[in-house]
Amino acid sequence: MSGNEIRQKYLDFMAKNGHAVIPSSALVPENDPTTLFTGSGMQPLVPYLMGEKHPKGVRLADSQKCFRAEDIEEVGDNRHTTFFEMLGNWSLGDYFKKEQLPWFYSFLVDEVGLDPKRIYVTVFQGDEANNVPRDTESVVIWQELFKARGLSHEVGEMGSEAEGYERGMKEGERIFYYDASKNWWSRAGKPEKMPIGEIGGPDSEVFYDFGTEHDSKWGEHCHPNCDCGRFLEIGNSVFMEYLKTEQGFERLPAQNVDFGGGLERIAAATNNDGDVFKIDLLWNVVSQIEDLSGKKYADNLEAFRVITDHIRGAVFMIGDGVHPSNTEQGYFVRRLLRRSVRFADVLGIPAGELKNLATSVIGTYQTHYVNLSEKQTEIIDAIAKEEEQFRKTLEKGMREFEKVANTETISGHDAFVLFTTYGFPYELTEELAAEKSLSIDREEFDTEMEAHRAESRAGAEQKFKGGLADHSDKVVQYHTATHLTLAGLRKYLGEHVHQAGSNITGERLRFDFTHDSKVERDVLDKVEEFVNSAIKTGGEVTIEMMPKDVAQSDKTIEASFWDRYPDEVKVYTMTGNDGTVFSRELCGGPHVEKLENITGTYRITKEEASSAGVRRIKAVLE
Ligand code: ALA
Repeated sequence: MSGNEIRQKYLDFMAKNGHAVIPSSALVPENDPTTLFTGSGMQPLVPYLMGEKHPKGVRLADSQKCFRAEDIEEVGDNRHTTFFEMLGNWSLGDYFKKEQLPWFYSFLVDEVGLDPKRIYVTVFQGDEANNVPRDTESVVIWQELFKARGLSHEVGEMGSEAEGYERGMKEGERIFYYDASKNWWSRAGKPEKMPIGEIGGPDSEVFYDFGTEHDSKWGEHCHPNCDCGRFLEIGNSVFMEYLKTEQGFERLPAQNVDFGGGLERIAAATNNDGDVFKIDLLWNVVSQIEDLSGKKYADNLEAFRVITDHIRGAVFMIGDGVHPSNTEQGYFVRRLLRRSVRFADVLGIPAGELKNLATSVIGTYQTHYVNLSEKQTEIIDAIAKEEEQFRKTLEKGMREFEKVANTETISGHDAFVLFTTYGFPYELTEELAAEKSLSIDREEFDTEMEAHRAESRAGAEQKFKGGLADHSDKVVQYHTATHLTLAGLRKYLGEHVHQAGSNITGERLRFDFTHDSKVERDVLDKVEEFVNSAIKTGGEVTIEMMPKDVAQSDKTIEASFWDRYPDEVKVYTMTGNDGTVFSRELCGGPHVEKLENITGTYRITKEEASSAGVRRIKAVLE
């Protein structure tokens, strides 16, 4: 079964079970300052798991594009990739364990056709210190499911990963209790790591047994959470029902399910081969590399895997509007592409071919991710240009590297010159150094970079940074006030005013907008009055989902970064109790439900230039 078929089957299956299928959010999260990239399916849905109403209802499903930058260096083995798709379904206070576990099991066995004998599961053993009970409910559900298929269903007591290696699996065991380091999920990890205000809960993971020989370098005995590669986790049902508070863990008002399953890994399970690069979605690129290089995948695993993963990641990233650059998200795209060039050279692939690999990625994915075909030219051009630019200096840079690589520690200054003059991302120099067992003076590099950045900041366009500091009540109030601010500015300054940046904390809002001269105090006063009267009038904040092109053609809807939004967008409308529409704007939320929930008087405390053609204001609610 192809990867595209598995994805479709999953979405159809969930739709049949009452879920609204929603489009993937972009790889760059909106209003979530905790992370540069969307790394799991639940991230864009956090406000809804915390209680905000979702316009599509209480049962949702999708296939979310994810990117884990921290895995760039891990790529090379049979299962790590930077980009991946997470199949997801959510219950927002609707169904719970007794629906979720049988659905996923039936999807794997009846829809995808996996051999049920090869499926093993784990559940949460409980955590007395945090007052979270052992998940016996899930155990009973799994036992029933296994019994019904005539399978063994004994329960094993594992505890930690280390204990798992000691204990191993006993005859007949198919269900295993593990502690919070394995069977608890939150964005921050286990309970102790969660900040106050974060949500999380016990989870139940499903593993596929590839039946390969255990490698004792990992530990004495194999078990589902062993890293030897015999077992691969293919799905995780999180029972999101806890909120961390100052007083400890409290149950959320509603019990939620947050399910995430690795599309690539499920596809690998259908191949009965743990190498995710052998699934059709990736193999298309691998086989093209074989043709271009005249070399075999099996003989050059690392180089093939790096190029395949990185080109796919870059294609999706550029498709979401992130172009190669030296800062923030763009820096990762640059690293992906420059690293691909180096490995292409290792394989002897002719120069200028990366764009053709990218074309094949687009061809594979475009039926589901239509933005890729719409943006094909942009993606291909960006990749071709990056390859060309890097190649211009690569040879000289390699010569320079050889020159400076004559001591045990490469100086930070040399690494800095390699970056600024020859376009070698720091990590590339680090990798080349590691090949020669050399190190780099990182501290000196950082110092030079900081000085360089400070210089280029002066005069250069101040980049949009930030978003919301967190999702606390006051930050959310400020966020809604920010929409009203923009509406007020557009009303009194004109339609050329758009958002250029926003940074919100619980103490103030800071808002950058396009306008090229000082805004006089009398205009600021009018904007203040506009915002305060909206708050005083009171009214509703409503959310609609609509196709992006519909929103784009509706001139009453404001948006500043059309490119950053998915094909289906969310529009927040703020309507006063007297019927006045104060603001309509594309946004990812969260916002207050009622305008009168904004407490305090709104006051603009500062107006100043931010960069060429951009002004900045600060405002408080006091
Ligand atoms: N949010 C859960 C995960 O990423 C499903 O594993």
